[in-house]
Amino acid sequence: MEKSLTKEIDFLTAKSILNKELSIFKTVTSGISKLPEMTYEKNESRIKFNAKTLNKNTILDCFEVVKNHIENIKLHTLSNGYYCLQALHSNLYDTKSILDNAKFRFSILKNIPEIEITKRGSFVEAELLTAIELFRLTNEVSNSQQIIDPREILKNIGIEVYDPHIEKTKGNFIGFDQIFGYDKVKQEIYESLILPLKNPDAFLNISNLTRKFPTSNRPRAVLFEGEPGVGKTTMAKAVACALGIPLINVPIELIMSKYFGESAQNLALVFDAAKAMDNVLVFLDEIDSLAGKREDGLFEATKTMLSVLLRKLDGFEGKPNSITMGATNRKVDLDSALVSRFDKSIYFPLPNTNERAAILSGYAMHLDDGLRRNIAEKLEGYSGRKLKDFCDTVERRHVTMLIEKNLPISAPSAEEYLKIIEEIK
Ligand SMILES: Nc1ncnc2c1ncn2[C@@H]1O[C@H](COP(=O)(O)OP(=O)(O)OP(=O)(O)O)[C@@H](O)[C@H]1O
Ligand SMILES: [Mg+2]
Repeated sequence: MEKSLTKEIDFLTAKSILNKELSIFKTVTSGISKLPEMTYEKNESRIKFNAKTLNKNTILDCFEVVKNHIENIKLHTLSNGYYCLQALHSNLYDTKSILDNAKFRFSILKNIPEIEITKRGSFVEAELLTAIELFRLTNEVSNSQQIIDPREILKNIGIEVYDPHIEKTKGNFIGFDQIFGYDKVKQEIYESLILPLKNPDAFLNISNLTRKFPTSNRPRAVLFEGEPGVGKTTMAKAVACALGIPLINVPIELIMSKYFGESAQNLALVFDAAKAMDNVLVFLDEIDSLAGKREDGLFEATKTMLSVLLRKLDGFEGKPNSITMGATNRKVDLDSALVSRFDKSIYFPLPNTNERAAILSGYAMHLDDGLRRNIAEKLEGYSGRKLKDFCDTVERRHVTMLIEKNLPISAPSAEEYLKIIEEIK
């Protein structure tokens, strides 16, 4: 088992994790049973909550959850209406003070289904995760309970919706003309994303003429692949702007690090929310955070994330004016099942000299073509981001000099750009 999962968590931290994780749950459901109670008395930790139902099937599902998180477990009591699981020591033959370990009780006494988890001392991470999952499982949202406002769900889990109509009013609209160079990439994007999403019927109708079993022949999901800073995230936003469709920006890395043990459920919520929205683009940014760890002792949470993602990608594909986009720096390292879900891949190379000169035309427009080309030639291997950062540096240095010398505002000269290049080389 992962080391961190066996680490003890003090009472207050455990309580705040529990509340934080489940407060999200509370906001997206209605008619929810009370949230779990957590207490610490006489050196015993206890988490208690009601379940909606505890029939044979749910009890078995609960056992499965416990088994997934707790390494060694045995059935302690099995009687009508009362079931108890007992955690063992990691050495199965050692039975000393075994009753101090975690106990998971499931009872339906007086017709009230209840789950109680107790342990002498503090809970460890795995036990807390189990409690959270058991609560979710036994208080699950049925479809009819899902609230209608998907944007509210996304806001609650800290996921940004980039809505071109709103961004326009804030001056954050990104047109294709703001991405310099990359004509081939833009052409591919136009053909695989813009055109099909603007004309879904045409793409479906053509297959009515050509195929025995017509299905739309537009890509189901598109992957942007390329080194850091080549404009993948910017391009995803530009696609949203060109289509006038909101983009749900899902930085996988953030989802994985921010939500203790609940990443998978939150990822599932993202797709549920996306499904409930009219037309929408889902952008899975930095999916390398899930990269190829399946074989090498993949941490439980990542494994669950991946399987949720694969399942949800399948479920999202049917929406006619919506599509999933993903971005990665390292396609080769990605899980092959995940890569296969993206049926179109667009490669963003590092910019060549012409392209670097084109990018500089956006960030140093006052220089003439020859000068820009000269600078571009000296910055081999630079991405768009590095070029922009370089121009920022020159400008900052220049403006500092102007202020110090009390000079009127002017643009930096070509020499100033070249001087900085000398310094950074
Ligand atoms: N071709 C380009 N034209 C103009 N600006 C560019 C270009 N390429 C990159 N940039 C600028 O570089 C910055 C970084 O781009 P972006 O974040 O989209 O890169 P990325 O490929 O998503 O990087 P990462 O892999 O690190 O997430 C942005 O401010 C973007 O405007
Ligand atoms: Mg990015």
